[in-house]
Amino acid sequence: MKSQQPYQVYFDREQLFHAAVQRWVELANESIRARNSFHVALAGGSTPKRVYQLLQRESLDWDRIHLYWGDERDVPADHPDSNYRMVREALIDHIPIPEANVHPIHVQPDIETTVEEYRQVLENVHRGANGYPCFDLIMLGVGDDGHIASLFPESSALSVTDTPVVSVYVEKLNSWRVTLTYPVLNTARYLMLLVSGEAKTPVVARVFGSEAERKYPVQKLAPQGRIEWYLDRSAASELPEST
Ligand code: 6PG
Repeated sequence: MKSQQPYQVYFDREQLFHAAVQRWVELANESIRARNSFHVALAGGSTPKRVYQLLQRESLDWDRIHLYWGDERDVPADHPDSNYRMVREALIDHIPIPEANVHPIHVQPDIETTVEEYRQVLENVHRGANGYPCFDLIMLGVGDDGHIASLFPESSALSVTDTPVVSVYVEKLNSWRVTLTYPVLNTARYLMLLVSGEAKTPVVARVFGSEAERKYPVQKLAPQGRIEWYLDRSAASELPEST
């Protein structure tokens, strides 16, 4: 592991996932000690699934842990593309967490009803000084186009600054998504970005390269809290070797 960088590079995916789990557990225990609860927004996509599987084995105070989602696809909860379903199968079905502590983006026929309901669900989360939900942790994957949650390049959701959650139509996926917005991502105490594999090498090189232009949605993050990137060697293969 190399440490001077705003990112950590791990030998392989498995080492990356184990390090992310260790950090997740540390943050959960710290938050429960400090605030008697841990509110975490989970990432969808494929990269974090192994982290959720590994969390099954951890002894955590699940009664004080609340699970939310950073974004969701416009599909039913039992659909193979559902981020909720992925986490349910990888983690929730294997741990003693009260159902009342699981706060999915509950997809409904009308997507604005989905958004409105989730906005109310987010009322459970502590407020930051700016009045936005202040998660103890938000986990994010990064798309090879630099998107995070469902904040895709050139999408209308990028410029939303007056509400915590929106619906967005993603042209290239020909589908709707519901996503947390930048004000919520930037208010979190801790952002954990999980990025693995050679498909992500170009975007990682651009994000940490010298290029001034901040064109990727991930580069538009302005976190008030701490941000850490968990990279494997493939994703980091074009980054300068740290001394
Ligand atoms: C989603 C995610 C999305 C994901 C990236 C990376 O619903 O798809 O929230 O933002 O994190 O697309 O996905 P992979 O981890 O599968 O590369």
